[in-house]
Amino acid sequence: MTGPKLGDVLDRDPYSGDMTKIVNWVHNVDKLLASDPYYKGLLAKYGARMTAFPQLSDKDIAAKMEHFERLASKETDNEIKILFP
Ligand code: HEM
Repeated sequence: MTGPKLGDVLDRDPYSGDMTKIVNWVHNVDKLLASDPYYKGLLAKYGARMTAFPQLSDKDIAAKMEHFERLASKETDNEIKILFP
């Protein structure tokens, strides 16, 4: 997978906790990559284009984001254990 880590994405700009903006992105990747400076920046940074998933429901997307968040906090826990066993 080449893309940003999604664990804390929802809390960051430009979402600020607004899941409908995440849903808009996952449904309309091509449109936003063409029009929105923030996503143009991500494309430049990662040099990769995310596939849109128009078939995912709002609920599916929210569930995946929650899952990513849990994975991210697990990674953090593991890093902490390595540093402070
Ligand atoms: C094979 C699966 C996926 C790949 C390879 C992928 C790849 C990428 C890439 C490259 C970006 C950076 C933006 C761009 O250049 O287009 C991105 C952003 C993002 N992706 Fe995905 N993606 C995948 C699946 C998903 C799924 C299933 C979700 C959510 C349900 C998701 C949510 C997001 C979000 C929210 C961002 C924006 C992150 C930010 O604002 O920093 N992605 N993805």
